[in-house]
Amino acid sequence: MLLTKEAFGDDFTWGVATAAYQIEGASRDDGKGLSIWDVFVQKKNKIFQNHHGDTACDFYHRYVDDLHLMASLHIPNYRFSISWSRILPGGVGEVNPRGIDFYNRLIDLCLELGITPWVTLYHWDLPHALETKGGWTNRDIKEWFGQYVSICVRHFGDRVKNWIVLNEPTVFTAAGYFFGVHAPGRKGLDNFLAAVHHTALSQAHGARVIKSLQKDSHVGTTFSCSHVEPYTMREKDVVAARKADTLLNRLFVEPLLGMGYPTAEIKVLNRVERYMKQHDEKDLIFDMDFVGVQNYTREVVRHATFVPFLQAKIVSARKRNVELTSMNWEVYPESLYHILKKFQAYDNIPPLIITENGAAFTDQVEYNQVEDPRRLNYIQQAIEQVFRAKQEGVAVKGYFVWTFLDNFEWAEGYHPRFGLVYVDFKSQQRIVKSSGHWYADFLK
Ligand code: BGC
Repeated sequence: MLLTKEAFGDDFTWGVATAAYQIEGASRDDGKGLSIWDVFVQKKNKIFQNHHGDTACDFYHRYVDDLHLMASLHIPNYRFSISWSRILPGGVGEVNPRGIDFYNRLIDLCLELGITPWVTLYHWDLPHALETKGGWTNRDIKEWFGQYVSICVRHFGDRVKNWIVLNEPTVFTAAGYFFGVHAPGRKGLDNFLAAVHHTALSQAHGARVIKSLQKDSHVGTTFSCSHVEPYTMREKDVVAARKADTLLNRLFVEPLLGMGYPTAEIKVLNRVERYMKQHDEKDLIFDMDFVGVQNYTREVVRHATFVPFLQAKIVSARKRNVELTSMNWEVYPESLYHILKKFQAYDNIPPLIITENGAAFTDQVEYNQVEDPRRLNYIQQAIEQVFRAKQEGVAVKGYFVWTFLDNFEWAEGYHPRFGLVYVDFKSQQRIVKSSGHWYADFLK
């Protein structure tokens, strides 16, 4: 199938996505406060080869060239995140004017170049000052987050209409507060469930704050999703897959839609009630203008007696002998189709936007060019899967490639490259990959 952009209609939103900590660098410049990632990367052996985001793509100093490059690739929408600790170095209290100034310049230049900004308010870089007070495990975070959100809307809302409240709450609460493999590196069920509930409260609260200040805003939030299949059709594997699906795909969207936490499948989730107060269930609900789904692969799950709480485990893609990306994820673009169908099946789901999708593969520079047929094929096939879902009636309204520039890939450091644009992290030279040229042609 040779798809064109036109097949999706004029009102379909195409773009690229990035996140502040992964590209900005300038981690201590111009009055910025430390974030939990600035602190986490200093701990030994948490990150692949002890990489860190102190400089990353140096986007903070190079955004002018990078945005011009984006415009030259005909990319009409840019999703980026604001670093909370650049705006509020202490998390709450005094605003840093130089932080405001940076995002003002960034937004202004986007608009000047005809690029519509989509602002993510939280992409995992909590101010460290707030983590010392418990971070997402402290219920006060709902108010701290609300204040930060209102500052962003007051400063940028005259030019920014599209807001994304949170990036992938399941990932940052699980990796950061249960497994301890992401910042802030905390572990255990109690930390996790407290973080989950306060995050879900903040998700709805943040959205309410935006709407109260800006009536014509377009507000959404994003969820990490993976199509889940049982390893065999044995009852035990089917049950295990259902539990994994609950955790990976349903944990945050269902309370938002007014369905409460999905405790029926995973009994231990009932313990979240310890953190709940009267009226919370109602406060978790918000009628978003859109829901962002972010998908990279599928998961195959089997029963595992010794895995606490879940009795389920993921059968790694490597063991399944399938084609892998540099993240060791299965190359499986159809997952996006299944996820769109799954989300569409909720009764009161708002329109869906794919706010992230992409693939990491090893890249080679030859004669100043990067040929990346595997990434190009993946993106092309993923877009075909979006079209397939759309043809079947799914209200999907947009697609953002993850990501524009190769960047700091969290615990994996700089090793996996997801960019449409290659970055030489020593010289900071940028080279548009063949996938980037393909996307530019597609968008032209
Ligand atoms: C995150 C990105 C990340 C990407 C690839 C998503 O989970 O939002 O920050 O780089 O996946 O791992």
